Amino acid sequence: MAAHKIDTVIHNAGIYGPRGVLAGELAEEAWLEVLHVDTVAPLMVVQGLLPQLRQNAAAGHPTAIHFLTSRMGSIADNGSGGNYLYRSAKAGLNAAVRSLALDLAADGIRVQLLHPGWVQTSMGGEQAPLTVQESVAGLLERCAELEMADSGRFVDWSGAEIPW
Ligand SMILES: NC(=O)c1ccc[n+]([C@@H]2O[C@H](COP(=O)([O-])OP(=O)(O)OC[C@H]3O[C@@H](n4cnc5c(N)ncnc54)[C@H](OP(=O)(O)O)[C@@H]3O)[C@@H](O)[C@H]2O)c1
Repeated sequence: MAAHKIDTVIHNAGIYGPRGVLAGELAEEAWLEVLHVDTVAPLMVVQGLLPQLRQNAAAGHPTAIHFLTSRMGSIADNGSGGNYLYRSAKAGLNAAVRSLALDLAADGIRVQLLHPGWVQTSMGGEQAPLTVQESVAGLLERCAELEMADSGRFVDWSGAEIPW
């Protein structure tokens, strides 16, 4: 049976890890779990889907991979410190996905890093300014407008570019 082609992957799953962990309190096991889920797993999932994605792109169909990351993974934007586990995991994801975007350009596969905004989810909490509907509407627009020339960009739900 022929493998199914895949045209779009949106990798959304992520964890924050324990909150409020300060320098002097960092625990290796908890940190490695956040790195595993937020940095390593997204690339492993996509790696498993690459044959189908490449097959789709080779047939001339638009093909894209979108990763949900966070502004907290921006080193340039870090003006408040703390949040070691989550910040480092999303910064690692950003670095790896930037490489992926460059490496998959030859296959014609588009890659994007998306910050959803601060959203009212289990992770974002009730005090977040954005509803899930507002964030997802913007994110879907960003997915739809992604062109090859924009591959590897780090943008938020509204389309604003985020510094690395
Ligand atoms: N909410 C925000 O303000 C905000 C801001 C910036 C970035 N983000 C990013 O946006 C994405 C979605 O976050 P969210 O706010 O929706 O978080 P959430 O409410 O905590 O939901 C996280 C989702 O990830 C899944 N997940 C977590 N660990 C997993 C694992 N090991 N295997 C499979 N699925 C797993 C969860 O599945 P289960 O329900 O089955 O556990 C859940 O569906 C994440 O990548 C997050 O880092 C969110």
